[in-house]
Amino acid sequence: MRKSKRLDKIPPYLFVKIEEKKAELVKNGVDVIDFGIGDPDLATPRHIFKKMHEVLDQDKSANYPSSKGELSFRAAVSDWYKKRFNVELDPNSEVCALLGSKEGLSHLPLAFIDNGDISLIPEPSYPVYKISTMLAGGEPYLIPLKAENKFLPQLDTIPQAVLKKAKLFYINYPNNPTGAVAGMDFFEKCVKFCKSNDLLLVSDLAYSEMGYDGYVPHSVLEVPGAKDVTIEFHSLSKTFNMTGWRIGMAVGNAEAVGALATIKSNVDSGAFKAIQFTAVEALSASQKCVEENSKIFEKRRNVLIHGLNSLGWKLEKPKATFYVWVPTPKGETSASFTEKLLEETGILVVPGSGYGPSGEGYVRFAITLPKERIEEAIERMKKKNIFFI
Ligand SMILES: Cc1ncc(COP(=O)(O)O)c(C=O)c1O
Repeated sequence: MRKSKRLDKIPPYLFVKIEEKKAELVKNGVDVIDFGIGDPDLATPRHIFKKMHEVLDQDKSANYPSSKGELSFRAAVSDWYKKRFNVELDPNSEVCALLGSKEGLSHLPLAFIDNGDISLIPEPSYPVYKISTMLAGGEPYLIPLKAENKFLPQLDTIPQAVLKKAKLFYINYPNNPTGAVAGMDFFEKCVKFCKSNDLLLVSDLAYSEMGYDGYVPHSVLEVPGAKDVTIEFHSLSKTFNMTGWRIGMAVGNAEAVGALATIKSNVDSGAFKAIQFTAVEALSASQKCVEENSKIFEKRRNVLIHGLNSLGWKLEKPKATFYVWVPTPKGETSASFTEKLLEETGILVVPGSGYGPSGEGYVRFAITLPKERIEEAIERMKKKNIFFI
């Protein structure tokens, strides 16, 4: 068997290794407190399940769907964007259904990146941006995100020679893994930057519905003229606790959305129609369930931040996402602290270095577990003298 050279370049997906490690511990009887993968532990709201049962009974969902999505789904996405962000989208040309946003993000470079082209990728970041650029034959140019810059990329540090070869510029606010948020002034700067450098702005908005303390995240598409240069990725995964349903959307510039749809029409045949019809219900019905979810995560965030700060950390509360980005104690690397937590306390976190070189010195906690388990984790750390010094 002769595998591609491409395969040698890519590491195993971050969470595959972490899940393997967890399985091994559970097998050995360890009660693992899992702050690992960001997969909501809360149930998909009942009215969404109910709709799924209805459409399964009534609709002819069994045939191939349209690869860019059923019109009713695309229209619901367009209405939701109008209601939520006051952004107008043409359901016919500016919306494409995805099998979750990971699928769309991973296919996008195939439509834009030729051998040697560059993607500008802030890091630490969701690994898919970098790996899909590499799979398409492109080169990632990593822009460090630092605490002293509020985890925003410094655009004026990118060399002209890099900019000349660059085609895509990724942003993700609210941000995974740092929990950072960006204001409209930053989004305006990004749009201007992409216009002057002929770049496609790739905005990943997976966490827009997880804002706390009254903070309501924006879409970059709210910037006037942003649609000239922007494609935005979103999904129902985190908003409605629907990670396993695999339904998302790419929206924005018609040419960019169309280019992605062309790739997709050749590699997948669209999302199961029953899931698209159910997603219409999720997007169009009352969004009270989303608010309730946020309240739960807000409380958990408070418990974790309070607990870690009682152990010596000086963390600020993230305004959005269900991630808490935690510096490692003195003398510990991301990997050594992850291992120490796991071995001494059974607490599973993700090493920040897995999200890029600037993630070194951090670990990520996903608060996708009940408040009581978070309290127990803090107790376990206290008992084992794990403090921030
Ligand atoms: C930043 C970011 N973007 C995209 C995704 C993909 O989500 P999905 O494919 O479930 O829409 C994730 C999942 O964790 C994420 O963290």
